[in-house]
Amino acid sequence: MKPLHEKLKNPIYLFLITVLYGCILNAQSKSIDNIQQNNMETSINNIIKQLTLEEKVVMCHAQSKFSTKGVERLGIPEIWMADGPHGVRAEISWDSWAYAGWTNDSITAFPALTCLAATFNPELAGDYGFSLGEEARYRKKDVLLGPGVNIYRTPMNGRNFEYMGEDPFLASTMVVPYIQGVQKNGVAACVKHFALNNQEHWRDKINVEASDRALHEIYLPAFKAAVQEADVWAVMGAYNKFRGQYTTHHELLINKILKGDWAYDGVVISDWSSAHDTMEAANNGLDIEMGTGTDGLGTTTLNHYANYFLANPFLEKLKSGAISESVLDDKVRRVLRLRFRTNLSKNRPLGRANNVEHHEVARKVATEGIVLLKNDNNFFPIKDDKDLTIAIIGENATRSMTAGGGSSELKPKFEISPLEGIKARYKNARILHSMGYETGPSEYAKVNPPSLDQDSLKAEAIKLAKKADIVLFVGGLNKSHLQDCEGDDRQQYGLPFGQEDLIRAISKVNQNVGFILLTGNAVEMPWLDHVKGVMQAWYLGSMAGHAMADVISGDVNPSGKLPFTFPKKLEDNGAHSFGETSYPGVNLTQHYKEDILVGYRWHDTKHIDPLYAFGYGMSYTSFEIENIKSDKENYHQNDNIIVTCNVTNTGAKSGAEVVQVYIGKPKSKVDRALKELKGFQKVTLEPGHGTHLNIEVPVSSLAYYDETLSDWVVEKGNYLIHVGNASNNISKKIKINIK
Ligand code: GLC
Repeated sequence: MKPLHEKLKNPIYLFLITVLYGCILNAQSKSIDNIQQNNMETSINNIIKQLTLEEKVVMCHAQSKFSTKGVERLGIPEIWMADGPHGVRAEISWDSWAYAGWTNDSITAFPALTCLAATFNPELAGDYGFSLGEEARYRKKDVLLGPGVNIYRTPMNGRNFEYMGEDPFLASTMVVPYIQGVQKNGVAACVKHFALNNQEHWRDKINVEASDRALHEIYLPAFKAAVQEADVWAVMGAYNKFRGQYTTHHELLINKILKGDWAYDGVVISDWSSAHDTMEAANNGLDIEMGTGTDGLGTTTLNHYANYFLANPFLEKLKSGAISESVLDDKVRRVLRLRFRTNLSKNRPLGRANNVEHHEVARKVATEGIVLLKNDNNFFPIKDDKDLTIAIIGENATRSMTAGGGSSELKPKFEISPLEGIKARYKNARILHSMGYETGPSEYAKVNPPSLDQDSLKAEAIKLAKKADIVLFVGGLNKSHLQDCEGDDRQQYGLPFGQEDLIRAISKVNQNVGFILLTGNAVEMPWLDHVKGVMQAWYLGSMAGHAMADVISGDVNPSGKLPFTFPKKLEDNGAHSFGETSYPGVNLTQHYKEDILVGYRWHDTKHIDPLYAFGYGMSYTSFEIENIKSDKENYHQNDNIIVTCNVTNTGAKSGAEVVQVYIGKPKSKVDRALKELKGFQKVTLEPGHGTHLNIEVPVSSLAYYDETLSDWVVEKGNYLIHVGNASNNISKKIKINIK
């Protein structure tokens, strides 16, 4: 029998010992997790035993605009919340929407989530969430009120800029790492708004009617991924009704689906003033009521915190026995779990804010999210040439885009405007600027008039354009009421503020016009033939100007892909194809008649060519996707489909491409979209280099929601895999069979 040290020289033994040690470690770590989990539950049970009824109830509603009470005598801390999805909002007053006027609450403004979605880069979403979570931790917030993942159903929704586009798979894939990143800081993410809050018009009154298939296949997946894959610690209810009941305390959505089927163990927080009834709030799963009866959003300013639906009225029904204490205890358990995950967590990391790493993440998300839509005769990139005169025209070249928009507005430490960024980058070219058009300051629920004379601004811009070799028109929408702003929807699909006339007038005197679109929504482009280049540049936050200059100059090769479709005209969009009953609703009820055919699903299936397609985005280089195959032809229910291909950078600049895998079922017993995104992978390649990609698609992800079974079913038979670099640019289709 050889001694152990002799045996260990034998690689087989060494391997076995390593594996065995690994198993023990893994078991230990699991058991440590279990112990921590059990400790938490045990601690929670012990605390609940010590709480009075009043102390339990008071933890279920606000004590101020953005905080809930703890239990002083037991040392249970308060919970502090802050908006929003793109950065930590400035401190708000105790009991009004007014800002508190602090001077220590400026932060990093990250790009809007539409931009993050456009990167098609889940790893970057993780960096984004982690950086934002660090800033929330530094600002001592326990809950960050974001991300928003409501599906982009109509280009008129004022809040689309805060969300992740029209496709549930893209939104699900991007939201998981974002939430995990935030929560690594011991700060709860709060995924919102649950659910079917797909417009701002009548948001607190509208009743949405939608099929079970649309609900489960389109509007819930990103929330389900947040709960089941990202383990999100908070969910925010929405303002609207669904099938006649307020979503914030909804039997089907919260009790049955969220806390039942999905086994969600975190808290449900209302939107501000989205709770409407004590019995429903108690029995249908609302755990923390915020914002009721406050000025601005609420039904009345008479209410105060003791009169909240989950305050004294709740207490009385508990005392009378109309509501059993077990209902209350479930809420308290969740609210205490939130604390053990955040401000009662022993190893909670410190936060950081306004540091270089966060600025770099903000810049990288911005440059990777910018989508190059049009680039005739290589208009972009623009050289920094001393003989070149560039005229920067448009209010959005200098207007702050972190101010306004509603609850996601921010007070950044700094915000580099497009003009500043371009001036900093172009040291040789001559940069001219004129506003071209001007609109009033962004304000919630109010349109402020412009202060300058529009005709003279227009005349000045045209005069400047005549003198320039190139015009960069920086326009689009903005964060004002009735634009990309919470609280209401846009009132036109085309560009506002006279931009369409202005851009035509400029292109009459200058043939070299590029349009830098700053929006969170698709817009009509009747002026498209008058410009040579178009960039969709989103709302980019603190590093906006530098990121835009990076891409305009070619320092960074654009790689963004559209997270939503640009229809040629509004009527081409599914939600706008069924009259007012579909959008914005009639008598405060609307029917999602396009059902599961949202976005490109509608355009593909109804054969309506979009202006720009979901998944589309150009590059300064070119790519070849070839040798596209599936690993098998026949699959079983619990197989993974592996789609392989080779991608080569056939151009002269390094760049990134997003290979997209869509799958459809030509013959099906149920209505289906022609194809649906089921996988994607982004790859960066040097010129002339290539790589091999494997994209895995679980067969289970091909299931449709069977309304008769109220369950998911994978239909057997033939499917078609569509592989390409845009939903309307498919390189190859492969037929497979599911047994
Ligand atoms: C707002 C928004 C919600 C936000 C909350 C607090 O009305 O709908 O997203 O987090 O109220 O500002």
